[in-house]
Amino acid sequence: MQRYFATVARGLESVAVKELTALGAKHIKPDFSGVHFAGDRALLYRVNLCARTIFRVLVPIAEFRCRHARELYRAIQNIDWREHLSPEQTLAIDCTGGNRQLNHTHFTALQVKNAIVDQQRAQTGQRSSVDAKSPDLRLNLHIYQQRGVLSLDSSGSSLHRRGYRQAMGQAPLKETLAAALIQLTGWQGDVPFYDPLCGSGTLVLEAALLAKRIPPGSFRQQFTFERWRNFDAQVWEHVQQTNREQVLADLPVPIVGSDHDPEQLQLAYTNAKNARLSEQIRLFPAELSGLEPPTDPGILVCNPPYGHRLGIEEELGPFYQELGDVLKQRFTGWTAYVLTTKILSKYIGLQATQRIPIYNGSLACTFLKYELY
Ligand SMILES: C[S@@+](CC[C@H](N)C(=O)[O-])C[C@H]1O[C@@H](n2cnc3c(N)ncnc32)[C@H](O)[C@@H]1O
Repeated sequence: MQRYFATVARGLESVAVKELTALGAKHIKPDFSGVHFAGDRALLYRVNLCARTIFRVLVPIAEFRCRHARELYRAIQNIDWREHLSPEQTLAIDCTGGNRQLNHTHFTALQVKNAIVDQQRAQTGQRSSVDAKSPDLRLNLHIYQQRGVLSLDSSGSSLHRRGYRQAMGQAPLKETLAAALIQLTGWQGDVPFYDPLCGSGTLVLEAALLAKRIPPGSFRQQFTFERWRNFDAQVWEHVQQTNREQVLADLPVPIVGSDHDPEQLQLAYTNAKNARLSEQIRLFPAELSGLEPPTDPGILVCNPPYGHRLGIEEELGPFYQELGDVLKQRFTGWTAYVLTTKILSKYIGLQATQRIPIYNGSLACTFLKYELY
């Protein structure tokens, strides 16, 4: 069994644990901004294809003492790079963490690169070039105190870049965060889903992918593991085929988004089209003040403007008050979830039955649940 490490946004480790369990991972252990797990090669491919809340899956290949540049260089040279990389292939190195002597990630990455290409040159007279954007081999070095962990990055670009969203809204949620919020509600595609402030449509699209059991990775051009020397095309085909067979032809429940800004709605529509969902989800223009439930009761999930990026926090008080009034007066029987900052949540004026602290990027937010009777 191989050990793996899934990187996730801070605070979403427990959501990722649930996902990894459902995908068949073993020996799962949450850590800071990541989750350790183990499994076979099929699991590695399945997690890349199917996980909705994970950024990358790393495969640790060496762990060593690494107090300074010389020690790091030696540790990297101790690895036989012929197993992973030939001189015609390109490479990139990401560094995280650091210690007293290795505290510039760029300099640290340079040491790793030099150790690898020096070994290649000594063996063959040729060396790999660096390609930061689309390398054949992406490495991740994490330094914590005196230790370094070197991993192969099996994903390549972060898995939140699904490939369906070319059109970005004003303050879009990351797809992985949208998926995590939906998973935190416990929604499984069993009741209607509505986002009345849908912007570029991230929440409705992630909800639709979940409800139809479409793997979020199915829109990607490639994962880096497909370029590895040990890539097993048969296992990969089997993983993809098994998941294709589970996809539902139609949405089991209505999934609806609205927004008052026609430009945002157009972005949502373009993204839905890219995800081949535009015929199935419903998008329409609506101003918050005139909102009526578009379906039978279900769940409503939204992330209203916070002010940090779109306006001034205090100015948004009346908007949040109105949101609370609209929910209370017109959405009887619904369960609403709102992602916002602590200060703005006070203006909603409803009693939350659950408050989950969440980071949206570096911004501390709360995900609030309201049962509307
Ligand atoms: C933070 S953005 C939502 C981003 C969205 N979750 C995404 O991923 O793209 C908030 C959205 O609320 C919409 N909005 C703001 N005021 C509104 C109002 N009074 N009525 C309807 N929509 C409004 C904005 O147009 C914007 O798209």
